[in-house]
Amino acid sequence: GVPVFPLTSPPTAELHIHLEGTIEPAAVIEMARRNGVPAPAADLDELLSRYSFADLQSFLDLHYANLTVLRTEQDFFELATGYLDRARAANIRRAEIFFDPQTHLGNGVPVGAVMAGITGALADSERTHGISTDLIMCFLRDRGAAAADEMLTAILPFRDAIIGVGLDSTEIGFPPELFVDVYARAAAEGLHLVAHAGEEGGPETVTAALDLLHVERVDHGIRSVEDPDLVRRLRDEQVPLTVCPLSNVALRTVDTLADHPLPGMLADGLLVGVNSDDPPYFGGYVDRNYAALRTELGMTAAQLEQLALNSFESCFLDRAVKDAYQDEVR
Ligand code: HPA
Ligand code: ZN
Repeated sequence: GVPVFPLTSPPTAELHIHLEGTIEPAAVIEMARRNGVPAPAADLDELLSRYSFADLQSFLDLHYANLTVLRTEQDFFELATGYLDRARAANIRRAEIFFDPQTHLGNGVPVGAVMAGITGALADSERTHGISTDLIMCFLRDRGAAAADEMLTAILPFRDAIIGVGLDSTEIGFPPELFVDVYARAAAEGLHLVAHAGEEGGPETVTAALDLLHVERVDHGIRSVEDPDLVRRLRDEQVPLTVCPLSNVALRTVDTLADHPLPGMLADGLLVGVNSDDPPYFGGYVDRNYAALRTELGMTAAQLEQLALNSFESCFLDRAVKDAYQDEVR
C-alpha cells in the first residue's frame, strides 16, 4: 500500500521542546565570536565531537557550556526565530516552549533581555510561521527550591508572557518534594503546571509530581511503565506524557529505539505524544522522531496518527481549538 506520511510528518503539537536546547552548533561558535566571549570549543569540529552522551548529566554539561554564549536580546530573538523556521519544516502547528531564565541570570543576562528577545520572535508566529506558540518557564531543579522561588518572583513582571511553569535539569537527587511550595505559588498565579519526571528517576517521581506538585502533564514519564498501578492511573486520568524517543536513546535511558516503551504505552491507552526535547543534540526534530518510529520500531500510519491526535489533545488550548487541529490530522 501507499504509506500515509511518505514525505512529511503529520501536523503535530510539540509540548516538550527546550528553546535553549535548539541552539545549533554553528550558532554557538558564531555567537561567541560576535559577543567576544570564550567559545566552549576551539572550532565547530571540536564542538561537534562532544555531541555524544552517556546520560542526562553529560548532555547537560555540554548544554550549559554552550549557553554561556547567549548574551543579548538579539541572541534570544535569533534562537527563537531559528526554532520556528525548523519547527515549520517538521510540520509543527502548535508549540508550548520551555525556557530556562535561571541559566541566563546565572550568566549575567537580565530576564528582561531574555523575554524581549523570545517574545519578539514569537509574538506573531501564527502569521509568520503557521505555528501557535506559548511559553513555559522551567525551574532548574539542581539549583534548589529557594532559587526557584526567587525565579518565580523575578518572572512575575512578565506573568502574561508565560502560560505555565515546568521543572527540568538534573533529575536524580532533586525530587519533586523539594518544589511543593513554589508550585503552589505558581498555581495561585493561575499558571499551568508541568514537570520532568520518570526520565532517569523512577516511577515514584511521576507519582510525586502528580500528588505533590499537582502537575497537569508529565514530561518524559517513560519509567512509569515499571509501576502497573501508576500506568492504570495515567490511563484512567488521561494524564498527558510528553515522550521524546530520540532523546531517550541519545541519553541512554533506553538502549535502542527498538526497546522504547512508547508502542506499549500507546497500546495501554496512555495519552502519549512525540517530542524532540533538544533536537540538534539528539538527532532531530519531531519529523525525525516520527521517521525513526516508523523505520526502527515499525509503527504504523494509524499509530503515528494517534500520536499526533494525542499531541493536540495534550495542549493547554480550548476544546474547539484542539478539535480544529485534530481535524487537520485526520
Ligand atoms: N532533560 C532535563 N533537563 C533539560 C533537558 C532535558 O532533556 N534539556 C534541557 N534541560
Ligand atoms: Zn526535556
